[in-house]
Amino acid sequence: MAGNWKMYKTGQETTAFFAGFNPLVAGTANCDVVICPTFLSIPAAVAAARGTVTQIGGQNLFWAKEGAYTGEVCGEMLVAAGCQWVLVAHSERRQYFNESDAETLKKTQAALAAGLNPIVCVGEKLDERKGGKTEQVLIEQFAGGLAGLTEEQFSKVAIAYEPVWAIGTGQTATPAIAADAHGLIRSEAEKRFGKEAAAALRILYGGSVKPDNVERLMKEEQIDGALVGGASLDPQTFIKIVKAA
Ligand code: PGA
Repeated sequence: MAGNWKMYKTGQETTAFFAGFNPLVAGTANCDVVICPTFLSIPAAVAAARGTVTQIGGQNLFWAKEGAYTGEVCGEMLVAAGCQWVLVAHSERRQYFNESDAETLKKTQAALAAGLNPIVCVGEKLDERKGGKTEQVLIEQFAGGLAGLTEEQFSKVAIAYEPVWAIGTGQTATPAIAADAHGLIRSEAEKRFGKEAAAALRILYGGSVKPDNVERLMKEEQIDGALVGGASLDPQTFIKIVKAA
């Protein structure tokens, strides 16, 4: 169960979140709990979550190890700051920063090389769904962003299916729509990496996950977790989602 804080919360606000969240999440053992703050709030999150079950992740990384790439942050820096996870190719990265499937693969490989667990995001836009292109989009995103990994690399990747029309809109995918897409992604994984790898793959659903819809989503066998934006910003709300795992 992962929270994507996007461009919200200063370091102080991050510390305040954990003051409320730590006692609520104590004792959670049936799932991984991950929070992805902005780069600047990562140190505050790592310090505040130390000794708790919550793990910290970045929201993005650059594919080079170091160099003249003004404004970028690499996987090794995230690890040095205490991160264990990183989001790759969130739809907002694809939309506003023109990230491609080819870059997704490079960033995923860089994350793995640094020792991070990547959560690679895929998902179709509204016009693509309306135009009957959902399958094609997911297959292309998998082929371009993930199929180039080795089996060993793929075993450390989680995928988040986030239909773009469901993100921040309050319009959650129905459990059936989400399960269908997850099934398709899993079958692509099976074709490329084999049955065992596909069965072990964790596929998270993301897009307007809230306390009142998470249980129905989590009942689907195909759905292994959730990537949560807005509803991860408040400790009382996010804990209800974590408990649904
Ligand atoms: P949301 O965002 O839960 O606010 O819809 C999900 C995401 O973008 O990861």
